[in-house]
Amino acid sequence: MLDLSRQFAQIRDEVLAAIERVCASQHFILGAEVEALDREVAVFVGAAEAVGCASGTDALWLALLAVGVQPGDSVITTAFSFFASASAIVRAGARPVLLDVDPHTLNLDPAQVEAHLRPGKSTQLRALLPVHLYGQCADMDALEKLAREFELTIVEDAAQAIGASWHDRRAGSLGAAAAFSFYPTKNLSAYGDAGLVTTNDPEFAAHMRRLRTHGSPRRYLHEEFGWNCRLDAIQAAVLRVKLPYVEKWNQQRRDRAATYDRLFTQSGLTSGRANDPIRPLVTSPHAHHVYHQYVIRAQRRDDLRQFLADRKIGTEVYYPIPIHLQPAFAYLGYREGDLPESERAAREVLALPMFPELTEDEQQWVVENVADFYS
Ligand SMILES: Cc1ncc(COP(=O)(O)O)c(C=O)c1O
Repeated sequence: MLDLSRQFAQIRDEVLAAIERVCASQHFILGAEVEALDREVAVFVGAAEAVGCASGTDALWLALLAVGVQPGDSVITTAFSFFASASAIVRAGARPVLLDVDPHTLNLDPAQVEAHLRPGKSTQLRALLPVHLYGQCADMDALEKLAREFELTIVEDAAQAIGASWHDRRAGSLGAAAAFSFYPTKNLSAYGDAGLVTTNDPEFAAHMRRLRTHGSPRRYLHEEFGWNCRLDAIQAAVLRVKLPYVEKWNQQRRDRAATYDRLFTQSGLTSGRANDPIRPLVTSPHAHHVYHQYVIRAQRRDDLRQFLADRKIGTEVYYPIPIHLQPAFAYLGYREGDLPESERAAREVLALPMFPELTEDEQQWVVENVADFYS
């Protein structure tokens, strides 16, 4: 599914030198490495500021608080994402409003958002939290238009989308604030947990820097309740080594995705018909997709997954249970059938091996085995 050792082999000397540098400095939390990473990621993303923190989950929480989400507010997000997209809203004291996805991209469907907003159901809606799922930006033209009309602040969940863009604007510069995850499997990944928020608002950034150190503007003075979600210097140093490679690695992912598309078409498994055994997701012409995952919809998905596992081909299901059906969210009162596209996606999606160093032979092997399963 993912072989990180191939990446490590390319950058081993640089990474070890960076870790050595931190050890020599004996400065392990925040400090010069984190400040440098913040500057470098802000430039990469095209945002004025970046604030490193301990994880993507913390980044979402910091971003929501910084834009002013507070207890009693509601925040719209997608039902088809990792749990943290919605649980961070709860951590900020607010209520998630979970809406369905566009079946072509599996990103938050602006038509569903509009249908929710138009009747004027809630006065407490504060923010819109689109997730750029699998590395493809949500439809930001439509979502920005709705956000403007209904006075909602956009917080991007860009955890899977470093380097992705919508038209010519990068994920991380499309809303009031954006959360990134550098979890080890991500396109830009740390050697442990790490995350970061980007924003164009210097006050939001300053607030997040206080929040990540217990609401503290200076040592032992606490003006509000933040939390400890600081970024380690070693993680920042590793990320600084990797950041200059991200564009190349993302391009390699895009090339691998094009290869899968070609091989699946050649195999006859997919021909654009609704009853094809497998159907790739759709990429919007406005999106520069960075393929954090290459995901297909598959008939008899679980049997296919077992068949591939028996042949030592790793796959994953992101995500088998949509957020509105997670037990922790039972209190929101959603029922099975409420968000049918998310539920169907949870039954059908399968992520195939995808990383920059994947070889064409390996991809061929994956596709041959998928074809064997359906033959
Ligand atoms: C869409 C999405 N949001 C949020 C997160 C949370 O990031 P982290 O695992 O770094 O806390 C992830 C990571 O798994 C994610 O994929």
